[in-house]
Parts: sequence; C-alpha cells; structure tokens
Amino acid sequence: MERARIQIVEDEAVIALNLRNKIEEFGLTVTSMSAVGEDAISAAEKDKPDLVLMDIVLRGKMDGIEAARQIKDRLGIPVIYLTAYSDDKILEKAEITEPFGYLLKPCNSRDLMVTIKMALYKHRMDEYRRKAEEVEKQRQNEKLLIEQARLSAMGEMLRAISHNWRQPLNSLGLIVQDIEDAYKFGELNDAYLSEFVRNSMAEINAMSETLSGYRNMFKPDKQKRPFDIIEAADGVCAFLHGQLRALAIDVKVVSSGTEAVYVSGYLNEFRQVMLNLMFNSMDAIVERRKAQSMAAHDAISSQGNIGSITMEITRKDSMAVLKVTDDGGGVPPLLAGRIFEPYFTTREQGKGVGVGLYVSKVLVETHMGGSLSFENVENGTSFCVLLPETDCADDSCTGQ
Ligand SMILES: Nc1ncnc2c1ncn2[C@@H]1O[C@H](COP(=O)(O)OP(=O)(O)OP(=O)(O)O)[C@@H](O)[C@H]1O
Ligand SMILES: [Mg+2]
Repeated sequence: MERARIQIVEDEAVIALNLRNKIEEFGLTVTSMSAVGEDAISAAEKDKPDLVLMDIVLRGKMDGIEAARQIKDRLGIPVIYLTAYSDDKILEKAEITEPFGYLLKPCNSRDLMVTIKMALYKHRMDEYRRKAEEVEKQRQNEKLLIEQARLSAMGEMLRAISHNWRQPLNSLGLIVQDIEDAYKFGELNDAYLSEFVRNSMAEINAMSETLSGYRNMFKPDKQKRPFDIIEAADGVCAFLHGQLRALAIDVKVVSSGTEAVYVSGYLNEFRQVMLNLMFNSMDAIVERRKAQSMAAHDAISSQGNIGSITMEITRKDSMAVLKVTDDGGGVPPLLAGRIFEPYFTTREQGKGVGVGLYVSKVLVETHMGGSLSFENVENGTSFCVLLPETDCADDSCTGQ
C-alpha cells in the first residue's frame, strides 16, 4: 500500500492519540485530528486525505454521520465509522452515507489495518469502475452521434442522387419514346439502332457511375492513408453537382499554385466533413434567399445574386488549409458559441438534427489531429479546416 493519508475525527483525545500511533506504526500518514464535525470538514477540504476515520457520535452540534455525509458528497472521500457500541438505530442512519466500513472501539491494530486496507482498495476499485463507465458512456455517445450524422448525410445523399439521376432519366425517356416514331416513319434501320444503343448506354453508365460513387463514399475506411484534399474537394463538388445546379448555386474549388495537398486520415470521414460543411452552406443560402424574397415582398429582389460557395485549399506552415466560404448570411453572433454543440440546430423541426458540425469537429480533431473553426465574413461564413500536411509515399496514395 502506498503511503495512504488518513484523517482522524474523534472527540476522545486518548482514543484519537491511540489511533494515530497505530496508524503511524503501519507507516501511514495522519493528516489531521479533529474533535468537531465542522473542523473535520474544513480539514478534509484542505488536506484531501485518502480516507477518514469518523467517530459516529461527536459532541458538537454536528454528529459524525452528518460530517461524513458532507465529506463524502462534497469531496468523494471514503469514510470508516468508529463506534463504541453497535446501536442498531445509529447504524441504520449511518448506513445511508454508504460507509466503507465500521470499527468497534476499542479496536486492535490488526482490525484497524485490515479495515483501512479494504476501504482504500474498495474505494480505488469504485473510482476505477466509475471512470471506466464514464469513458465508455462518452464513447457510446460519440458513436451514436457519428452514426446519426452518417444517416442524415445519407438522406442528403439520396437527395443528391435523385438530382443527379433526373437529367439522364429524362434523356433516357426521350430516347425511348423516339423509337416508336422512328418505327412509324420507317427510320428504324441499323444506323438508328446503334445510335439508340450508344446514347442509351451513355445515360445508363452515367447513372451507374453516380451510384458507385455513392457506394464508395459511404464505405468505411479500413486504415489511415495519405490523400490529396484538392482531389477530395473536387470529388465532393462533382457529386453534389446536380443538386447545386438545381439550386442555382455556384461552386468553385480554388487551389491556386498548388497541384496537390496531402493529408493523412480516413478519406471518407473527411468527405463527410466536407459534405456537412457544403450542406450547411447550401441550407444557409436557401434560407437567406427565402428571407430576402419575403422582405422584398416579391418586388425586384436581390436574391439572384445570392448563391456561391468557394472551397479554397492552401498550405501554411506545413499545415493544409481548407476553407469553405459561402454567402448564406453568416451565423448570428449570439449563436456563434453554440453551433458546435451536439443537437444544436436552427433548422425547422425535422430538417436538421444539429450533429453535423459536432461530428465534423470530432472527425477532424480527434481522428485527424487537426482543427475546425469558423468566422463570419462579408455576407456569410467561412469554415476553416486545418490539418497537418504529409508527404505522399507514392504507392499508398493511389485510388481516391
Ligand atoms: N454555413 C453556415 N451559415 C450559417 N449558419 C450555419 C452554417 N453552418 C452551420 N450553421 C448554423 O449552425 C447550426 C448547426 O449546424 P450543424 O451542421 O451542426 O447542424 P444542422 O445543419 O442544423 O443539422 P444536421 O445535423 O442536419 O447537420 C445550424 O443549424 C446553423 O444555425
Ligand atoms: Mg448540418
């Protein structure tokens, strides 16, 4: 046993001294000896002992049970009661404070030592279990949030796919309808047929590519590896292309003067971060347009000018920097401190869960050793992801 520190609370001086001698004989430290409950509490606050030996019946205003309760509740220090007799009523009352043991006075050295040892051991185990449970609970919470964010991103993805499919589906419909006319007007020959097959297959391939892109984006990554964030940003924009076009939002990936910027991590997790930021910007733009057209009462509104998102990739002091900047009106200053909190959302009921930014922060900061922050800029916000830049060992950064 390490040199445990014990506090004695006992109003009979002879007994207190006797206890102290015995405890010190074992090589333990006595932090203080008090005779009154109030003194015992302030001594415990000051010394933070590992264990308190507490006389159940104290002479002052406060009895030992009350003093023990306060020490345990406020400081979490375990208590062993000292009692001269086993009065059932008193013991019953003492039980509520969940003591770590009782010692009947006068006690012999061996009982004292064994009881102290047991109490310290049990307390340490309790603490250990409590901490383990806390860590596990935190881990489960995080897992749940990440899962929730993934589901919500998947919902958005379905929306993106249906946008990307709309155009090829339309074209396919037109091609198919035309074959009937071609037959009627006697145009159905070899040349027509091969053209028909070629055009149809082009549309079908485009649709199938969208789908495999989708599947790839949601496959969990097996291991960390270096990837180029410019290429990743291009991929995400290409994927949102249909949706962005439908919303008439202009997106640019800017990376002047740099060909590739490598960071190490889980590519799909990083894609999810970029998607979360993009979806937020898209939502902000849509909301701002709505607000403006309401304010303008359908007069000539300026909403036609709203709708641009820039993904800018640069490097600074061996860090890779990705900035997602929009003109969606920005985060109201009063809410700025809260947007990274889990479940914080300003969206209508059923539209947002409020986990996008929280999860993005966890993914960037704990999984990739970077940071995620934001600032309001003119007309909108700019979210900034900072990540340590890595070298690209050629064979490990293939195939995004
Ligand atoms: N680009 C932005 N412009 C303005 N406000 C933003 C922007 N990004 C985030 N916010 C604000 O931060 C809040 C939290 O964003 P977060 O992505 O965590 O949740 P959410 O988008 O509301 O829901 P979801 O769980 O679907 O992502 C948003 O509700 C919004 O008020
Ligand atoms: Mg969001």
